[in-house]
Amino acid sequence: MKTRYDVAVVGGAGHVGVPLSLVMADRGLRTLIFDINTAAVETLRSGRLPFMEEGGEPLLRRALRRQMLGFSQDPAQLRGIPAVVVTIGTPIDEFLNPNFSLLTRCIDGLLPHLTASQTIILRSTVAPGATDFLERYLRRRGSKVGLAFCPERVVQGRGVIEIQEIPQLIAATSPRALRVARELFSKIAPRVIEMTPLEAEFAKLICNTFRYITFAATNQLYMMCSQAGIDYLRLLEKVREGYPRMAYIPGPGFAAGPCLMKDTMQLFAFGRHSFPLGQVAMTINEGLPNFVVEQLRRRMDLRNKRIGILGMAFKADSDDIRDSLSYKLAKILRFEGAEVLASDEYVRDPNFLPKEEVCRRAQVIIIGVPHKAYRTLKFPRGVEVVDLWGITRNTHPAPRRNSE
Ligand SMILES: NC(=O)c1ccc[n+]([C@@H]2O[C@H](COP(=O)([O-])OP(=O)(O)OC[C@H]3O[C@@H](n4cnc5c(N)ncnc54)[C@H](O)[C@@H]3O)[C@@H](O)[C@H]2O)c1
Repeated sequence: MKTRYDVAVVGGAGHVGVPLSLVMADRGLRTLIFDINTAAVETLRSGRLPFMEEGGEPLLRRALRRQMLGFSQDPAQLRGIPAVVVTIGTPIDEFLNPNFSLLTRCIDGLLPHLTASQTIILRSTVAPGATDFLERYLRRRGSKVGLAFCPERVVQGRGVIEIQEIPQLIAATSPRALRVARELFSKIAPRVIEMTPLEAEFAKLICNTFRYITFAATNQLYMMCSQAGIDYLRLLEKVREGYPRMAYIPGPGFAAGPCLMKDTMQLFAFGRHSFPLGQVAMTINEGLPNFVVEQLRRRMDLRNKRIGILGMAFKADSDDIRDSLSYKLAKILRFEGAEVLASDEYVRDPNFLPKEEVCRRAQVIIIGVPHKAYRTLKFPRGVEVVDLWGITRNTHPAPRRNSE
């Protein structure tokens, strides 16, 4: 079957799919975005991005103008497209196990339209062994489609830039599928690094898990210092001064978002639910909002206190609220009887207030995430500001990104 497309991206309207599709289309690959999210697809079709993505909009407009980008929700449209990249979400379930059925259900829907001349390139983050499992799954169903696993390692929101800067890890279950993956990613990444599927699965999870553990380490040290009455941020500045071995210690803050904890838990599940370092990291990072509230509760009665949270996204200068710890913080505060006023620079929510109004009305202000706009905020005299990140101070410690 002849197709006009070189590549399809299943989940192409999502956070991983959009930057990948845009970069591929910009590099001259005719790209089909296949996604069940009608609203996001329509937004893209109209030349706008469904979420913030640095440098994405000019690429989108150019791709649409040059007719390099197509959209579909009909799996029959995937027929004959040589490479079908799958970027759908891979959440964990309530038992902290990877929920693989979303992926297999998605693949089930595609299979009637895929033949031996095509290759599925799995890009969603999966648990170790998942690619081999999928290989067996495909063969049991009589499918001869090729299978590769090429994980995404960019920082969310900077995918368009980083896809073109970061080496791409590629792995496959056959030499032919590896060749397809190599040819595809050689067109967009500065270089490709080949490995086995199991190595690639671990490589991706290690990248996120290591960062998550690092954030937990600094967060725990922050809590300990705070309890001892020490200003951790000031201490870090002094510790780093003239001492390069500590240059990379991140500052404290909420380590949230849809990937870091989820991917740590994928290793936890792989280790048959024994991964002490990962488990402790989760306890520390997820416990930080409780610590913040507890510290306040020791000093004041939170009942009927008006508390403002500035920044509801899961990380700075992003509009993504998935698994944001600011929401957990708000929930704990409300449980304690406080009235919560929330604000964000990028997240649209009719319940949110402008930051100036929150500053004017709140008795205590907590910085949820360090959006740049908070650097120059003026707080009324007498208002207590809880700022783990140090964004409202003039001296800000080493910048950190708390997502992939
Ligand atoms: N967000 C990141 O920065 C990032 C980075 C690296 C890896 N990952 C991994 O990539 C995967 C996707 O994450 P995301 O943040 O892009 O998720 P997302 O929810 O933003 O995007 C997933 C997209 O898949 C679509 N989709 C779901 N089921 C589908 C189906 N059956 N057919 C077609 N489309 C379908 C959804 O509508 C959505 O647009 C996850 O495994 C995640 O761990 C994410």
